[in-house]
Amino acid sequence: MTVLQAISLSKVYGGRGKVATRALSNFSFSVEKGEFVGIMGPSGSGKTTLLNLLATIDKPTSGTVKIEGVDVSQLRGNRLAQFRRRRLGFVFQDYNLLDTLTIGENIALPLVLDRKPSRTIRDRVAAVSERLGIAGVLEKYPYEVSGGQQQRAAAARAIVHEPAILLADEPTGNLDSKAARELMETLTLLNNVGGVTITMVTHDPFAASYCERILFIRDGELYNEIHRGSSRQVFFQQILDVLAVIGGDVRELETSRN
Ligand SMILES: Nc1ncnc2c1ncn2[C@@H]1O[C@H](COP(=O)(O)OP(=O)(O)O)[C@@H](O)[C@H]1O
Ligand SMILES: [Mg+2]
Repeated sequence: MTVLQAISLSKVYGGRGKVATRALSNFSFSVEKGEFVGIMGPSGSGKTTLLNLLATIDKPTSGTVKIEGVDVSQLRGNRLAQFRRRRLGFVFQDYNLLDTLTIGENIALPLVLDRKPSRTIRDRVAAVSERLGIAGVLEKYPYEVSGGQQQRAAAARAIVHEPAILLADEPTGNLDSKAARELMETLTLLNNVGGVTITMVTHDPFAASYCERILFIRDGELYNEIHRGSSRQVFFQQILDVLAVIGGDVRELETSRN
């Protein structure tokens, strides 16, 4: 089953007197249920623009985004907000947990906003936090736990309502190498065991090496697509090879980490 279809997406910023930037040009791809897809490219290549269109946070200048067959550009106001709340999950670089809520309350948020019964909320939060290895910190506040635990809480919140797709923008961007590895192993587990469909934007080749398939974007256009075989280490090297051609900040850290 196809979960996400991006059909000929283009995005132009500015115009009308200002200088127009074409951030995305005729970008098409699709994601099948259960896939773990990465999107990579140099800084400024259009990754965040693309993810914001998929996330229904921004609208394309032209083209269509379909999620579970629904053309999201046709949704407005409350219906769009409800669709986003129920069918999408997000993880960003800087966790975005609410400081005034406990980790458990943060994870519960999508279900609370959707007015789910408290029993359902309790059971779902317990199951998801167990799976993500943060069941022991549900009563704590975000500032009382590590960055890695905060990001796993953000991942738990992103999937607690069983969305059609988990969208992540640079989820390892603020993590040290150990926490980044743990997060990627967690996302892999959610994907393999939990069947969570994931699309992740990253410029980090180490994080990307956990994906099954990577789309490379350059100057807003699809440049290349590679698939992982059995070895993550071999895939990591293939990713570095493509980045060496299209550019991308490949730091020594990433190489030594692997
Ligand atoms: N809100 C905006 N207004 C104008 N230009 C933007 C805006 N957001 C991004 N851009 C431009 O669009 C291009 C793609 O940006 P972005 O999607 O953020 O790339 P990436 O996430 O790959 O670094 C860049 O040239 C950037 O400067
Ligand atoms: Mg970006």
